Amino acid sequence: MAIQKVGSVLFLQFLLVVLVSDSINAQYLRQGYYKNTCLDAESIIWKTIRQYISRAPTLAAAMLRMHFHDCFVRRCDGSVLLKSTSNNQAEKDATPNLSLRGFDLIDAAKSAVEYKCPGVVSCADILALVARDAVSIINGPFWEVPTGRRDGRVSLASEALTKLPPPFASISQLKLMFSGKGLSVKDLVVLSGAHTIGVSHCSSFSNRLYNFTGVGDQDPSLDSEYAANLKTNKCKSPNDNTTKVEMDPGSRGTFDLSYFTLLLKRRGLFESDAALTTSTTTKSFIQQLVQGSLKDFLAEFANSMEKMGRINVKTGTQGEIRKVCALVNT
Ligand code: HEM
Ligand SMILES: *[C@@H]1O[C@H](CO)[C@@H](O)[C@H](O)[C@H]1NC(C)=O
Ligand SMILES: *[C@@H]1O[C@H](CO)[C@@H](O)[C@H](O)[C@H]1NC(C)=O
Ligand SMILES: *[C@@H]1O[C@H](CO)[C@@H](O)[C@H](O)[C@H]1NC(C)=O
Repeated sequence: MAIQKVGSVLFLQFLLVVLVSDSINAQYLRQGYYKNTCLDAESIIWKTIRQYISRAPTLAAAMLRMHFHDCFVRRCDGSVLLKSTSNNQAEKDATPNLSLRGFDLIDAAKSAVEYKCPGVVSCADILALVARDAVSIINGPFWEVPTGRRDGRVSLASEALTKLPPPFASISQLKLMFSGKGLSVKDLVVLSGAHTIGVSHCSSFSNRLYNFTGVGDQDPSLDSEYAANLKTNKCKSPNDNTTKVEMDPGSRGTFDLSYFTLLLKRRGLFESDAALTTSTTTKSFIQQLVQGSLKDFLAEFANSMEKMGRINVKTGTQGEIRKVCALVNT
């Protein structure tokens, strides 16, 4: 009897640990985690980033995308910042990295913080804070960034290929990849709204213009006038891999609702953008956003970003606090 009872209690405890350990880590993140160990960390990061973004505002988009890539591959653990070594190809050297830029901002923020309190603030937290600060500096949404993330020691190019949604993802693939990270269908729509800022290379969507099904055709779901315009003025050849195109033409630097308005006009740039109009749930979220106020979108975006920033984080004694964001500690 007694043994059976102890056994079942242990089993229940085991089950509980297995079931909640992943999500529970996120609970350890908290507002102002560095209050006692590096009081000025957040303001040092803010000041550093404001200098950079005021000179180069387009880097705000780059920082937002980098944070997204970090969180979707493994966890929000700074793995996207690690560089390849002689026996490992890191995430940043995988194909989807093509437009990752602004690694020097992270290095600048890290150096500034290390100078004040060495070995205390993780690169994963710095990236999360930098993305938030950069976006808010260009008058985008502001979201809370609870801290306490620890840095991972692993970064694999192969995982960037399987965990990051490709620009040709279908709606079912997108839903699956987001739910795999604990994000809802609404989060998917709202976070895709990040494409209201920033740029893409032609190579991420030129198949839609030149060779959609392999017979030299165009994607019929893309507005034909827009497609013609892109071919004449931007992506003049199917192999152009250098020209950059704004995803939200005319307001690539402004966080607004026009990305969603364009989706409804069949002018989403990637197949993954267009895919959001192909299911009734996602389409109705888009309609709600377009009919609502900018303030509502910014609040929704902030909410989903805070959720994204918690994906599987390492906390407590897991991982490490990297000394240099591009290198694991030795
Ligand atoms: C839903 C699935 C998503 C797909 C398939 C996708 C795909 C892409 C692609 C292909 C590019 C252009 C890369 C290039 O050719 O240079 C891009 C850019 C960008 N993405 Fe996404 N993305 C997705 C979701 C997100 C999310 C969730 C965020 C952030 C919350 C985000 C933020 C950005 C930003 C800001 C840029 C512009 C980067 C720059 O200007 O340097 N994306 N995305
Ligand atoms: C992206 O990866 C390629 C190799 O696939 C590499 O040559 C390039 O330097 C990488 N870009 C960045 C920004 O790390
Ligand atoms: C389109 O793609 C097919 C299959 O990949 C290829 O054989 C063909 O040469 C391409 N056509 C053009 C016009 O690029
Ligand atoms: C970009 O295109 C040029 C010319 O077509 C080619 O030589 C180069 O390898 C391409 N780069 C990438 C990263 O695909």
